[in-house]
Amino acid sequence: MEIQFQEGDYQQWQADILLAPTLEDGFALDQYPELDAACPWLAVAPAMRDVRHSQGELAIIYGHPELNIPRVLFLGLGKKEDFCVETLRLAVGKALQKCRELRLSSVLLPLSILDLLPCGRNRLVEEMVYAANLGLYQGNWLKQKDEAAPKDPERFSLAAKTLPQDIRNAAQRGENASWATLLARKLANTPANLLSPAKLAAQAQSLAEASGLGCHVLDEQAMQDIGMGALLSVGQGSVNPPRLVVLEHAPNAQAQEPPLVFVGKGICFDSGGISLKPAAKMHQMKSDMSGAAAVLAAMNVVARENLPKHIVGIMACAENMPGGAAVKPGDVVYAMNGESIEITNTDAEGRMVLADALCYAMQHYSPAILVDIATLTGACAVALGDELAGLFSDDSPLVEHIRAAGQTAGENFWHLPLWKNYEKKLQSEIADICHTGPREGGAINAALFLRHFAGQVRYAHLDIAGVDWQEKASSLCPKGATGFGARTLIELARGGLQ
Ligand code: BES
Ligand code: MN
Ligand code: ZN
Repeated sequence: MEIQFQEGDYQQWQADILLAPTLEDGFALDQYPELDAACPWLAVAPAMRDVRHSQGELAIIYGHPELNIPRVLFLGLGKKEDFCVETLRLAVGKALQKCRELRLSSVLLPLSILDLLPCGRNRLVEEMVYAANLGLYQGNWLKQKDEAAPKDPERFSLAAKTLPQDIRNAAQRGENASWATLLARKLANTPANLLSPAKLAAQAQSLAEASGLGCHVLDEQAMQDIGMGALLSVGQGSVNPPRLVVLEHAPNAQAQEPPLVFVGKGICFDSGGISLKPAAKMHQMKSDMSGAAAVLAAMNVVARENLPKHIVGIMACAENMPGGAAVKPGDVVYAMNGESIEITNTDAEGRMVLADALCYAMQHYSPAILVDIATLTGACAVALGDELAGLFSDDSPLVEHIRAAGQTAGENFWHLPLWKNYEKKLQSEIADICHTGPREGGAINAALFLRHFAGQVRYAHLDIAGVDWQEKASSLCPKGATGFGARTLIELARGGLQ
């Protein structure tokens, strides 16, 4: 769907349907003078009497088919005091699905309609464009052509007498953010046979080229040369070898500054390895690279928006399989920083690939801030469910930045402790450190292991194991991968981190 701008008088506006997000309290057409003027027939349409404008309601009112705008779709938002941006996003997602069902090809949003909502125009435009694109995602690209299936609407127009540049920029930001979330979603939904670590790295390379990002891929040999024994140990049981992808956005003026570094877990399939997972739901583990997908998606937007900041993205990609050469419980391997790690459960593979990626970030970039994102532990999903991601950090300003970025993105984080006393649970009798602690506090133990390899730096770990996948469709996302995290990273990069 293309975002367009219709500048000029309402008499010239044209579309199959006009979108009217409206509040319930004391609705009257004369509160919306431009809508009233553009569609004067609304005032005498008998069906208007049944429109409640209640939260979640979609109501279509029809005018004469030969009008410039023959339909109006009311998106009920409920009471003003209950308004939140997420309500609007959900309504817009559902509205665009409705438009597709009706086989409409153009929708129009008169900007002035937004002025009754308790939030600025720019933000609302950004969110509506974001939600419109999310609502249309279907994730069925592997289904063979179904000629009868309705096509997406082709045009989404913003309409006003004049459309200032800041509105156009807001629309572009919404477009970029949705592009990122949908890319992350699509990569995570892609079956593992179609997306090996090498293929994911190749995707990263071609996307980076298109958006002007620096991109450097380390293959097995290159990783061996620098001693990435932890990451390599995860991939050694698969016929598809691991890759480390390094993406860099370094504008001239900021290239010498210590960067903000994102690190993503990119397990293209997590079978558990020799500590094999149970069969039920194992197919979901094709999305165990959601963290890396979020990093890749966000980095491309960072480059496209040419943000004035030095930012690096690292994707730690491997396939965790129980092949004959697989790492075994009880094995000891050496991480890039030279430390020996005892492996007691090959299903705790995420922290192994991340340990080396974090060492790499520290050695090569001395980050100002280091943030990793990973579908790391079932324990985090058990603790927080499918709407909250775990946020581990003891840097309070950074916690606030991430929480705020997440809130803007519609992605919610809950602060969990990096409880120092539990570090002793990672002691090994035979090596420098053990990669797993007890089941109790599993998400914290994993976070402490990662922090150990990140070392002395402003650091946060985002555990998205519960939120990267949803069992039930919503108006913004079908069942499956959600793309969670891509937009939070974008908002972090856009914002003034300090
Ligand atoms: N990828 C899984 C975590 C996960 C579980 C993500 C469910 C999404 C949904 C991770 O690699 C894993 O297997 N973690 C283990 C760690 C344990 C062996 C210490 C877990 O959580 O059970
Ligand atoms: Mn695992
Ligand atoms: Zn995993």
